[in-house]
Amino acid sequence: MRMYDIIKKKRDGGELSKEEIAYFIGGVTDGSIPDYQISALCMAIYFKGMTVRETCDLTYAVRDSGDKLDFSSIRGIRADKHSTGGVGDKTSLVVAPIVASLGVKVAKMSGRGLGHTGGTIDKLEAIDGFRTTLSDAEFLKQVEKIGIAIVGQSKQFAPADKKLYALRDVTATVDSMPLIAASIMGKKLAADDDCIVLDVKTGSGSFMKSVEESKALARLMVDIGKNAGKKMVALITNMDRPLGYAIGNSLEVIEAIQTLRGNGPEDLTEVCVTLAGYMLSLADMGTPSEGIALARKAIADGSALEKLCEMVAAQGGDVRLIRDPARFKQAKYKREVCAPASGYLCRADAEAYGLSSLALGAGRNTAEDAIDYAAGILLHKKTGDAVRAGESIATLYSDDPASFDAAEQKLLAATEIGQRPADEPLVYDIVG
Ligand code: URA
Repeated sequence: MRMYDIIKKKRDGGELSKEEIAYFIGGVTDGSIPDYQISALCMAIYFKGMTVRETCDLTYAVRDSGDKLDFSSIRGIRADKHSTGGVGDKTSLVVAPIVASLGVKVAKMSGRGLGHTGGTIDKLEAIDGFRTTLSDAEFLKQVEKIGIAIVGQSKQFAPADKKLYALRDVTATVDSMPLIAASIMGKKLAADDDCIVLDVKTGSGSFMKSVEESKALARLMVDIGKNAGKKMVALITNMDRPLGYAIGNSLEVIEAIQTLRGNGPEDLTEVCVTLAGYMLSLADMGTPSEGIALARKAIADGSALEKLCEMVAAQGGDVRLIRDPARFKQAKYKREVCAPASGYLCRADAEAYGLSSLALGAGRNTAEDAIDYAAGILLHKKTGDAVRAGESIATLYSDDPASFDAAEQKLLAATEIGQRPADEPLVYDIVG
């Protein structure tokens, strides 16, 4: 078999066989296929797509490219959630402790920020001392003992995805439905969960810009998971505007803590309790609405926040930061962004806001870049709010004052003030 022929076949709209897909992923994993041929095939897939059969074979090949996790030593039902990525999306930091506080086991592997989107692992590393790398034995022992652990992916876990993802990120091939489905579900199937809730983001700040595309992606991933014996559901949630008010690592952890204290933004709280409710429901704890009621109770009685504290302590993090978020390191500089006109905030383009936060130092431009954990944006207005000319609509935070001009320009260019916009749904649909 030759990689050249596989690229040519897909370029011309052909359907790749299981063997051709296995050859490709094998070569990605052992390093025998050069980056330019991997990138060329990703681009051909981007333009020509894949059938459901090809996408399933690609997913299983990614799953089988490395070690699989064995959670059989964990007693009880194991549930996971996965977001397709967004801006201000700190839901895992809220949802995982809620669900674990109600007795469902959460053994979670999360990713780092990617492009304009943030990542749970970077956020957790904003907590002094928090270890995002645990040995398999430590990971399993912690889940068994306190019901929850969140770690980054080890080198041996779905290594083909790691390589593919890094290349897709720099070759403009991230937003391809079969490539996203195989990337997410390949990793989910290599872990050993009983139930999976997918948070498929839709809108400018997500990789799927239209609700229709997001639904199709959700359907595909739910079907792949169900075929592999998992209990699955996907929520299509709004990512046209940032979720909550905070964008940037420690700012988002602080907002997650506020949410677990019952003082979080309405949109974030709503999305989190809905995701948690569906996870609980898949884990046999009643209907989704009963699950949502349980999730709200876990916030109200403080048990979800206590679970987050337990996890932070178990993974070496400084729990004093969770109990008193004013202790988080503050950025050295800040700048207010003022409304250029009076009216209603009718657009706050999530992708551009994510890029603005990146420019402040909250994310990476290359894999080697260091993150400024205190950098980011605190919004003071959400879409639909009334604003007065000259009023601050956001505060920018950074240790690098030279980054403010570009970040402010990006944010203002992506902000529109005008007539009061119609309300948009937070959850567009449920698939599965
Ligand atoms: N998240 C992933 O893990 N993979 C993708 O391709 C997109 C979002």
